[in-house]
Amino acid sequence: MFQSLPPPSRRLILICASIILPFAIEVFLHWRRFDIPRPGHDLDPPFYAGCQDPAALAAASNETDRPNAVLVMLARNSDIDDARHTVASVEDKFNRWFNYPYVFLNDQPWDPEFVRVLNQTARGNARFDVISHDDWTYPPSVDKEEARQSILEQGQRGIHYGGLESYHHMCRFFSGKFYTHEALQPFKWYWRLEPGVDFSCSITYDPFAEMARRGKVYGWTISLWEEPNTCPTLFRHVSDWKESQMIPTTPDSLWTAMIQASWLPYPFRRWMRWSPLHDQYGDVWSLCHYWSNFEIADLDFFRSRQYQGLFEYLDAKGGFYKERWGDAAVHSLAVGMLARTDQVHHFSDFAYRHGSFQQCPANALGEQLEGSIALGDGLYSQEKDGGVGCRCTCDSSKTINFPGYCTNKLKQPTRPDRPWLTWFL
Ligand SMILES: *[C@@H]1O[C@H](CO)[C@@H](O)[C@H](O)[C@H]1NC(C)=O
Ligand SMILES: *[C@@H]1O[C@H](CO)[C@@H](O)[C@H](O)[C@H]1NC(C)=O
Repeated sequence: MFQSLPPPSRRLILICASIILPFAIEVFLHWRRFDIPRPGHDLDPPFYAGCQDPAALAAASNETDRPNAVLVMLARNSDIDDARHTVASVEDKFNRWFNYPYVFLNDQPWDPEFVRVLNQTARGNARFDVISHDDWTYPPSVDKEEARQSILEQGQRGIHYGGLESYHHMCRFFSGKFYTHEALQPFKWYWRLEPGVDFSCSITYDPFAEMARRGKVYGWTISLWEEPNTCPTLFRHVSDWKESQMIPTTPDSLWTAMIQASWLPYPFRRWMRWSPLHDQYGDVWSLCHYWSNFEIADLDFFRSRQYQGLFEYLDAKGGFYKERWGDAAVHSLAVGMLARTDQVHHFSDFAYRHGSFQQCPANALGEQLEGSIALGDGLYSQEKDGGVGCRCTCDSSKTINFPGYCTNKLKQPTRPDRPWLTWFL
């Protein structure tokens, strides 16, 4: 067909092709730079698959090197039933063997009934603290009236929780002030709990001790897409801060994995930096993040000068109010930027449900410690080859999670063997 075209058209096609081809190659290489799929074998397997003897592990963790850890829940007095539900679930599946203390936080004074009931559910192991007004309000750099007006508008625009002032305060609190709260000062590790969630596999080892032993700083269960209208300018501010601090990005880092490469060729791509959605190179964040209502993490990571510096920078930009930046997005971008890939752990062996989202592993075949007195003889769901759970009771056929795109992106990726590629980067 090409042959049958008259010569002028043929020349035109050749000219066009020689212009387009270099751009196409450039886009392809740029895109490949951010494409770091998980390799075939799991680089971040569960710490243990199946059941361990909790009594033996708990006794070992009762020794002197027991981690300084706390279970933390932010709740309102009206959350009493949901809070009790969560604590009963954690006690039943984990803490009755390990006896970690609880801290409950509230922005209002505690109702004595809440304290009585939750202290009882936590077997007398709980402390009830209040968040100071300064940690639960607008920062001095933000004009309150303007912020309230913006919150009102976000509500009218139907932004998820955007119209609730207290929700904005909560996101700001969990993004920064949480870590410096006086009640958490004695601790190095925390497990964040949310009212009304379920844990439905037995957790027969000490996740804090394993995190410490293996040099982890952040643990998660579910990853999702953030709703873009809650945080249009967040990524730009975080990436600007990253540039200003000269924080390097390695080709196999989580930060690289979080970026959605632009399909525009250089130099047109760079023009996109004028848009607040893009970073200075014209790329965007994929919106994939760890769902922070479950976290097991190192408080010192978030108390570090670097993280707190990032929080203060973001706080001064006012986006916790002018937009509805969530703490999940802030934590995730910070972890992607400041933690090494191997310092982040996916608790794929935990069954966790919050609302309609859940992670539900299958039970490990032949690893259920039949006859264990500690574990009892309750029923549990089917064992499967390749399963990692311990006596999980959740129904894995009803899983509504995102095992696909975001988990694949954020679960310890590493650049496959493509040495030729690094040559271009
Ligand atoms: C660990 O210590 C706590 C309190 O010190 C105790 O109640 C618990 O029974 C101990 N657990 C084991 C398995 O020894
Ligand atoms: C919780 O219960 C324990 C034991 O019953 C008790 O010693 C403790 O004072 C209670 N804590 C609070 C905050 O009520």
